[in-house]
Formats: sequence, structure tokens, C-alpha cells
Amino acid sequence: MRRNYKARLVFPSIFHEYIFKKVDFKKDKKDLIDFCYLQKEINSKGLTKSNYGGWHSPVYSINNDNLISEYLKKGLGKSVFTTLKKTVAAKIEYWIMINSPNTYNLAHTHPNCHLSGVFWIKAPKNSGDLKFMNSLAHVNYAENNSYVRQFRNDTNVFDCFRYIPTEGHMVTFPSSIMHEVKPNKSRYDRIAVSYNINLAGWDDNFDNDESSSYIEKK
Ligand SMILES: [Fe+2]
Repeated sequence: MRRNYKARLVFPSIFHEYIFKKVDFKKDKKDLIDFCYLQKEINSKGLTKSNYGGWHSPVYSINNDNLISEYLKKGLGKSVFTTLKKTVAAKIEYWIMINSPNTYNLAHTHPNCHLSGVFWIKAPKNSGDLKFMNSLAHVNYAENNSYVRQFRNDTNVFDCFRYIPTEGHMVTFPSSIMHEVKPNKSRYDRIAVSYNINLAGWDDNFDNDESSSYIEKK
């Protein structure tokens, strides 16, 4: 039957979600956690960025040989990188965030980056949702709030969107989207790896001399 009406989503924001195989993640979870706490021991002061409390590690290159780099390469290779042109190369940096009870991350974007993301390693219940803010929430407020709930659910037309952190899951999103991590209301640490991706080679003017700092997509 011909449909006379359809709602088409134009200019969407793309969130790339990837779930590691439960059996693989379960096997490596302790090693991943141990690695994070070891880094904290090595550099207990850490950095202060968007975090209000908690421990923010220094920034690492994905070319560092360790289990986290391995996970990020695999997760990105099987998600967002499957969607990129062959000529595109990616430079990836990441950091560890350990949010102890009652700590959180203030709203922020990731300037000078193209894509950003998170890989949850330890996420107890109520340890802080990741909340994204719709940059058009103000200008489209009346329209968005006029739609019935079902239509909003079907189109993701919300003022904000939350992810409940889930161990072994990754989400990659446009770096320009404002986001925050709600307070950790559990009694345990919440551990996540965040990352930034810079893309090059998407036009014909890519300087090959710069390519050495970019990794090959798997
Ligand atoms: Fe962030």
C-alpha cells in the first residue's frame, strides 16, 4: 500500500555504538581494570579537565601498546571505521577516567576534534549516566515539545539523550555535542576510557607528510 506520509530525518547526529562480545570482555575485564589502577598509581595527580573530582589520566596515543589501545582499535575498527572512505586516516588519543563515588564530569565539548567517544570498563548501577544535550533544544523547543511521545521516541527528537553506562560498550559521537557525566551515586568506582579522533584524508588535499601520526584503520 502506498504511504502518503513519512517523516524523514535530515541532518541527523550519528552515534556509533559497539558492543564487545560478552565472553571476550569478561575475560579481559580484570586486566583492563588493573591497567587503569596501575596508571593511577604511576600518576596519582592526574589532570583536571571536565572532571569534578575523580581521577583523569594523562592523554595516551592509541599507538601505545596496551590492552586498552587494543580494545579501542578493535571496537572502532568494527564500528565507525567501517563507515569511512578508504582514504581517511584517523589520529586517536585517549584517557582514563575513574569516577569515585559522588564525582562527575561537567558539561563540555571536545574542541579541535572530529569524533569523540567512550568505552565503559566498570559501570556499577547508578554510577553516572552520560547525558548529551541537543544544541537545537532552545530554537526547536516548542516544536519538539509539541510532538506526541511515540513520535519523539521514533525520531529521537529530545532536548537531551542519556546513555546508562554499560560495561563492554562503546559509543562514538560528534565531538561538538555538549555532554556531561552525572554524579556517581554508587558505592564503587566507575571506570571509563574516553577518546578523541581526528580525521584526515577526506579531501584531495591531504598532506601525506602528516600521515605518519595517523594510524591505519583496521
Ligand atoms: Fe567528554
